Amino acid sequence: MKNIQVVLARRPNGTPVAEDFSIRETPVIQPDNGQALIENIYISLDAGFRNWMDEDAGDEVLPAMPLGQPVMGLTVGRVITSKHPGLPVGKLVMGRLAWESFSLASDDFLVPLDDNDAIPEHYHLGILGDTGMSAYFGLKDIAAPGPGDTVLVSAAAGSVGYVAGQIARIMGAKRIVGITSTEAKRQRLIKEVGYDEVINYRQGNLDEQLKSACPAGVDVYFDNVGGPILETVLGQINQGARIPFCGAVADYSRTAPSGPSNLFMLVTQCARLEGFLTHTKLARYDEARQQLKAWMGEGALKTFVQSYQGVDQCGIAFADLFAGNNFGKTIVKV
Ligand SMILES: NC(=O)c1ccc[n+]([C@@H]2O[C@H](COP(=O)([O-])OP(=O)(O)OC[C@H]3O[C@@H](n4cnc5c(N)ncnc54)[C@H](OP(=O)(O)O)[C@@H]3O)[C@@H](O)[C@H]2O)c1
Repeated sequence: MKNIQVVLARRPNGTPVAEDFSIRETPVIQPDNGQALIENIYISLDAGFRNWMDEDAGDEVLPAMPLGQPVMGLTVGRVITSKHPGLPVGKLVMGRLAWESFSLASDDFLVPLDDNDAIPEHYHLGILGDTGMSAYFGLKDIAAPGPGDTVLVSAAAGSVGYVAGQIARIMGAKRIVGITSTEAKRQRLIKEVGYDEVINYRQGNLDEQLKSACPAGVDVYFDNVGGPILETVLGQINQGARIPFCGAVADYSRTAPSGPSNLFMLVTQCARLEGFLTHTKLARYDEARQQLKAWMGEGALKTFVQSYQGVDQCGIAFADLFAGNNFGKTIVKV
């Protein structure tokens, strides 16, 4: 058996491109005591992992990704050989492993999954995984949208954003507005996901488009991108606005620091901008998954997946996230 790996060939210069990654084949290494060999089934592509590709990135817990090594990523896979008592052969697991067909792992970064409930395995990377739960926690714990509220979502067609728009609707918000980068994605968000209006931030004046799409101002801004879009939105928030700050895609590829110049709007509008990390809420994963599953069962929450075939497609799929070529959760079927 060969292990096909996608390695970090060079550090991305700003926005990642497929040429930053290369493919190699290595023999599959058998586990030592305390390890299991996982056959990866799906790999999740997440813009946030761009953060660990710079040389000076990371910290002691999670250092920068080394050059020439398989790229770190979330995967779902099955244990095929084990010398770990807690990871029996056949067990389905999700974890922070790598862009490769087989991974050696101890249980440090692995979450055992229940695979008796007929859920597609890749849901554990998307709608029932980190991104779906980020939409859930950001809206439930921070935004709490109510009747009469206008909810605005950036990266609305991304893995978190398309779920956030739907949950805001379920929670009773009056008007749901998205921000995206192409007309095709705009149309799909309105027709298929159920947004009331969607702004294309690459066309026209964002400030004017926002005023027209959110005539009553913005009560909730679910922010996935930070940067200049956050600055523009801050100019139009209402009194008491809530801003769950989920991520900052626009900043991940920046080569120079930047930030909104108008944070004082939070003071004058008595508004709250609050960051959060879903993986710190492990104790509430069951609550989140049960609720998301219930909404899916009722037909209130739809799933959108963009799937690539073959582990060698990881670099292309990752670059597509930054080029705006994705819709829904991006996964690679190994
Ligand atoms: N807090 C947490 O625990 C947590 C957990 C998971 C993810 N996150 C964060 O949540 C955010 C969204 O993740 P995701 O998985 O939904 O994203 P994704 O599926 O990886 O998609 C990223 C989206 O970002 C948009 N984008 C790319 N470059 C941009 C730019 N320069 N300016 C504005 N938008 C840009 C693109 O959409 P357009 O085509 O519309 O531009 C793209 O679809 C990320 O910041 C991620 O790091 C946070």
